[in-house]
Amino acid sequence: MSDTNTPDRKIIIAVDGFSSCGKSTFAKAIAARLGYIFIDTGAMYRAVTLYALEHGAIRSGIVDEEQVVRLLDRISIAFRFNPERGASDIYVDGERAEGRIRTIEVSNCVSRVSAIPEVRAKLVAMQQEMGRRKGVVMDGRDIGTVVFPDAELKLFMTADPAVRARRRYDELRAKGDCVSLAEVERNVRSRDEADMSRAVAPLRQAADAVVLDNSRMSVEEQMEWFMDLYRKTCGAPAR
Ligand code: DC
Repeated sequence: MSDTNTPDRKIIIAVDGFSSCGKSTFAKAIAARLGYIFIDTGAMYRAVTLYALEHGAIRSGIVDEEQVVRLLDRISIAFRFNPERGASDIYVDGERAEGRIRTIEVSNCVSRVSAIPEVRAKLVAMQQEMGRRKGVVMDGRDIGTVVFPDAELKLFMTADPAVRARRRYDELRAKGDCVSLAEVERNVRSRDEADMSRAVAPLRQAADAVVLDNSRMSVEEQMEWFMDLYRKTCGAPAR
């Protein structure tokens, strides 16, 4: 349900930041609170990667960039709201792909696929179209810098790498994955490095983004902090 004490004017909320700092969870919670549409742009890069894997453009972990680019005209990516999850599921060529885009195989190849300029151009255009009517919370790495440089509210989320590794480790262990904390921390740090050093649209804090370091904050504390910022941004009376 949306917040009754929120302004009528709909805006674009860009949520960028490092991996494993709870961006999607928080962006989804904001969208639910405001009655906005939540768009997980990482899912779109994962969908292209899945399609490339299923159509022979990635073999034994080697990405054939030219073939991925050729496939771009054929792939259809869509979101459909799933009331059970309270968020939209991603569909690739008409089939629900939420589970299939989050496998380790996709995770291992998605950084390389998301660094291909033609892939970024296509997905950025789709994201801009989705946000045309505003009222969206979009989470990713380049939303406030490239996709919506004029977004009314930009968050840049971060947390101590050791804290992020610990959260990810707890999640993986809860799913039954036998990983070590040191291994997870290495992975978190190397993904930070890959996201920041990519030639096209690297992860950067937009000059007008507000930093949210949630190393020592609960989701409730983050939400309280955010709603205050949101009301100030939209000029609504404080509660
Ligand atoms: O948010 P995620 O971990 O599901 O994202 C998957 C990958 O996609 C990640 O390696 C970074 C990339 N990505 C990107 O380059 N630009 C975005 N706007 C979102 C994700």
